[in-house]
Amino acid sequence: MEKIVSLCKRRGFIFQSSEIYGGLNGVWDYGPLGVELKNNLKQYWWQVMVRQRDDVVGLDGAILTHPAVLKASGHVDTFTDPMVDCRTCKARLRADQLAEKNGVKQCPNCGGKDLTEARPFNLMFQTQMGASADPASIAYLRPETAQSIFVQFKNVLDVSRKKLPFGIAQIGKAFRNEINPRNFTFRSREFEQMELEYFCRPEQGMDLLAYWLKERIKFYEEIGISRKRLHVLDVPEKERAFYSRGTFDIEYEFPFGRQELEGVAYRTDYDLQQHSRASGKSLDYFDEETKERFVPHVVEPSAGVDRTVLALICDAYDEDSAPDEKGKMETRIVMRFHPRMAPIKCAIFPLLRNKEALVAKAREVQALLRPHMNVFYDEGGAIGRRYRRQDEIGTPFGVTIDFETLGEKGEELRDTVTLRDRDSMKQERVAIKELPQLISSKIR
Ligand code: GAP
Repeated sequence: MEKIVSLCKRRGFIFQSSEIYGGLNGVWDYGPLGVELKNNLKQYWWQVMVRQRDDVVGLDGAILTHPAVLKASGHVDTFTDPMVDCRTCKARLRADQLAEKNGVKQCPNCGGKDLTEARPFNLMFQTQMGASADPASIAYLRPETAQSIFVQFKNVLDVSRKKLPFGIAQIGKAFRNEINPRNFTFRSREFEQMELEYFCRPEQGMDLLAYWLKERIKFYEEIGISRKRLHVLDVPEKERAFYSRGTFDIEYEFPFGRQELEGVAYRTDYDLQQHSRASGKSLDYFDEETKERFVPHVVEPSAGVDRTVLALICDAYDEDSAPDEKGKMETRIVMRFHPRMAPIKCAIFPLLRNKEALVAKAREVQALLRPHMNVFYDEGGAIGRRYRRQDEIGTPFGVTIDFETLGEKGEELRDTVTLRDRDSMKQERVAIKELPQLISSKIR
């Protein structure tokens, strides 16, 4: 994990937020490569979950949330962790993370035994709307994206004219005042979710739960996460939310242990019923064929963007060996991202920076590829070092413009380049005009 955290900072994937002021605990900023990786993930999720389907539409709800919404959903009263205060060192600790010696609970910071009783601590961030500071002006930063989907269910149903089963998808920020943010970005206080609420008839719930579990595993394989590091936990009834009839956790083997990436839950009609009762507005569905009116049930695949980015980074990290400039073998760090996820798809190298014709041709290739993919131009240093820099950030393809390209080694090689594959390090000679199609077909 140390190697991964260090690479993330050194190469610009992830930085600690407010680092120059000592950092803001549990909050992270994504650097130039991190934002590309994150966007590739979100775009692919949107592509697969919304655009390629007839039965799902999107939503982009607000982060600031009316307290009544979170009261009805149960978050105001029950979205809590039990907390204990240490009277000796004043640390606030999660009750389930206390150390124990000879059967006596102790503070893990100072060893003190003078602890308060456990009290519930709400994980939501509360803020004030407008100038007045009275209780009526309280708003919350949403703790999940799901609630705006439930609250807008009727509006979306009316405008989209969808028939059950159909879903509403959303990607966006969520905030939780986690007591112990840890494991790099894994447990953060500000993070992003990719959630689908898939509404259905009650009798379809269990089958759709199995369907969405399969679809979601397929998704992780399609973004390059190795199947052998993914696990499915069938959450036992006593650990599920009381309204859930079935929940699967999709877990990933992180270097710090097997942990949840996504929850796929059959939430019955709990959410729509709660909001319908609390708002006094009907959130039911009229089935024109059967002439029945009922509140739909829902199956929810809920994934974390940041956790998936972390899994992508952990899964991609590899070390092998490659020859240096003098042919001596050295350790090579290589991020084996699936080309679909890689932040940069193709690097473009003129063999020498001081040969005008090579540089001009390389710039031409850059302009040719740019409309199709994220490319990176690099003319600095020996070619082997330039390859190595790209391997370390997972760029799947490298194009080198050399004297053959200029036609100096035979007319038949004019306007051809070498195309290098990151994983095999093999190079093939291809015509420049074939590059856009050739590379595009591998990154989609
Ligand atoms: N709407 C259901 C829901 O929010 P959840 O299991 O609390 O369920 C869903 O969260 C996903 O959101 C998790 O599987 C995880 O990927 C992500 N997530 C939750 N809390 C997180 C945190 N503190 N930091 C990063 N990701 C988090």
